[in-house]
Amino acid sequence: MARILITSAIPYINGIKHLGNLVGSQLPADLYARYMRQRGHEVMFLCATDEHGTPAELAAAKAGKPVAEFCAEMHEVQAGLARGFRLSFDHFGRSSSPQNHQLTQYFAGRLADAGLIEEVSERQVYSNADGRFLPDRYIEGTCPNCGYDKARGDQCENCTKQLDPTDLIDPRSAISGSTDLEVCETKHLYLRQSALRDQLDAWIDTKSDWPVLTTSIAKKWLHDGDGLQDRGITRDLNWGVPVRKGTEDWPGMEGKVFYVWFDAPIEYIAAAVEWADANGKADADWQRWWRTDKGADDVRYVQFMGKDNVPFHTLSFPATIMGADDNWKLVDYIKSFNYLNYDGGQFSTSQGRGIFQDQALEILPVDYWRWWLLSHAPESSDSEFTWENFQSSVNKDLADVLGNFVSRITKFCRSKFGEVVPDAPADLARAERDALWSRIGPLLKEYETQMEAMEVRKSANTLRAIWVVGNEYLQEAAPWSVFKTDADRAAAIVATALNLAGLYAILSAPFIPETSETLGRALNVTDFDWPSGVDDLARLPAGHGFVVPDVLFAKISDEDREAWQERFSGTRA
Ligand code: MF3
Ligand code: ZN
Repeated sequence: MARILITSAIPYINGIKHLGNLVGSQLPADLYARYMRQRGHEVMFLCATDEHGTPAELAAAKAGKPVAEFCAEMHEVQAGLARGFRLSFDHFGRSSSPQNHQLTQYFAGRLADAGLIEEVSERQVYSNADGRFLPDRYIEGTCPNCGYDKARGDQCENCTKQLDPTDLIDPRSAISGSTDLEVCETKHLYLRQSALRDQLDAWIDTKSDWPVLTTSIAKKWLHDGDGLQDRGITRDLNWGVPVRKGTEDWPGMEGKVFYVWFDAPIEYIAAAVEWADANGKADADWQRWWRTDKGADDVRYVQFMGKDNVPFHTLSFPATIMGADDNWKLVDYIKSFNYLNYDGGQFSTSQGRGIFQDQALEILPVDYWRWWLLSHAPESSDSEFTWENFQSSVNKDLADVLGNFVSRITKFCRSKFGEVVPDAPADLARAERDALWSRIGPLLKEYETQMEAMEVRKSANTLRAIWVVGNEYLQEAAPWSVFKTDADRAAAIVATALNLAGLYAILSAPFIPETSETLGRALNVTDFDWPSGVDDLARLPAGHGFVVPDVLFAKISDEDREAWQERFSGTRA
C-alpha cells in the first residue's frame, strides 16, 4: 500500500467556473484519487479556493460586497458545485485561511533568511484620496494610442496596447475616481528565482517520466530569453496575506500583501493543516504528508493542472520549497492538460461563453458530464465540446452500451429466475466464468496500467471496451434461446452476466461514481474491492437478491440537444 498526495490547481474565487476549468484539473485529479483509494492506497486529495488578488477584489466590488464576505459566499458556492460533481476532496480549503497566512509568512521568512528575497524600490502611483498605492489596473485614463477613455494602467482594452500607468492621459483612481494621484517611491519584495535556476534545472532533468507538455513548458521558461526572472511577490492590496517575515513585522512593507501566486500554491500545504484542524488531528497527521523529515519521503505527490499553470508549478512553487530548505515535500509528478474549447471557440469566464458548472448540473445528471469530459480530456492536444459529440457519446457509451447491458440482464433474470442470482451446476458456471474472464482479464490489466499512468482518455476507452464485452457476451451466449432447451446452462450464463454487471459498478466508479452507487445498490454489491481474477465473477453467489434498477441513462433527444445548443450559444446572463 502506497501513500499518495494529490492536489488539483485551486480555482479562483471570482465566479463560477466553466467545464473547461473542471476537466483541466479537478476532475482528472478526482478520477485518480478515486482509483487509488479503490486500489487500497492511502490517499490525501486536497483542493481549495484561490481567494486573493486583484480579480477577487474587483469581483467583490462588482457584487457590492466586502471582499471577505464575497469570498466566504463564493467558497460555499464552489464547495457545493464540487460536491455536485462528486469531487472527493479530503479537504476543500481556502487560501485566505489563517493556516495559509501563517505558512505563507513562514515561507517568506525562510526565503529571506536564505538571502533569496530582494527588496527593490519602485516608483508607483499613490492615491491620496484612497490612502493607498494603486496597482496598475486600478488606474484608469485615456489611452495615448487610441484615445479610449477607460484604458487601464496595465493595458488598453480597446486597442490592446500594453501600458504603463504613467502613459495614461488624465489618470484617475479606478476605486474612487480621484485624480489626486502622485508617483512615489515604494519598496517591493522580489523572489530571486534566478539564484535557484541551476537547482531547478537539475531537478527537472530528473523528471524524465513527466509528460512532455509539462517539461517543455518548464524548460522554455528556464532557458528562453534571459532565463528565469526574479519575481515580484508583493502587491498593494488590502486583501491578501499581510507581508511579514515569519512572525515578525517587515519594515517598509506596511500595508502590503503577498502576490496571489506566491500564497496560492502554499495553500496546498495549508489545506492539509486545515484538514487536520477541522478533524481534530495532530500536527503529525498533516506533516506525514508534507514533511520529508516526518514521513513524507514515502509519499508520492501528484499535481493536476491546466497548461497555463505549469510554470508556477514547475518553477515558482518549487523555488519556494527548495529555497526554504526545510524538508518540505516537492512534487513527484505533474499531470498537465491542454484546453477544452467550446463549439468552435473558447470557453470564456469573462465573456460567459460555454457551459458553467451550475448550469451543467441543472440540466443533466453528473455522470453524463463526468463521462464525456474525462473520455475527451484534452491530453495530447486541445479538445472541443460540441453538443452533437456530447449527445452521441452519452447515448452510445452510456445508454446503449452500459445501460442497455444492465437492463437486459437484470430484466431477463427477473423474468425467468426472479430477482435472485440463479443457481447453476458448478461445472457449467465455472466454464462460463472462465470463458468470460479470458476476455475481461486482459482488458482489466490494460485499464489498470492506464489508470496508474493517468492516461485519462485511454482509460475511458478501455473501460468502454470492458462494457462492450457484456453486450457481446449476452449476444453470443443468448440465454433466452438456451433457456428453452437447457435451463441449467442458461442459469450459468445469467449468473455470470449478473456478476459482470456487479463488477461494472466497481470498475466504473472512478468515472461515474453516482451511477456506480445506483447500480451497486440495485445489485446489492456491498464490497467494492477491486477484482483480480476469475473468481470475482462469482462474488454474487446463487440466491443473492437484487432489484432491476431504473433506467441508468436516459438518452438525450435531438430536441433537447438543439434547445441546449441554442440556450448556451450566447453569453451567460
Ligand atoms: N487559481 C489558479 C487558476 O485557476 C490556479 C492556482 S494553482 C496554485 O488558474 F498553485 F496556485 F494553487
Ligand atoms: Zn488604446
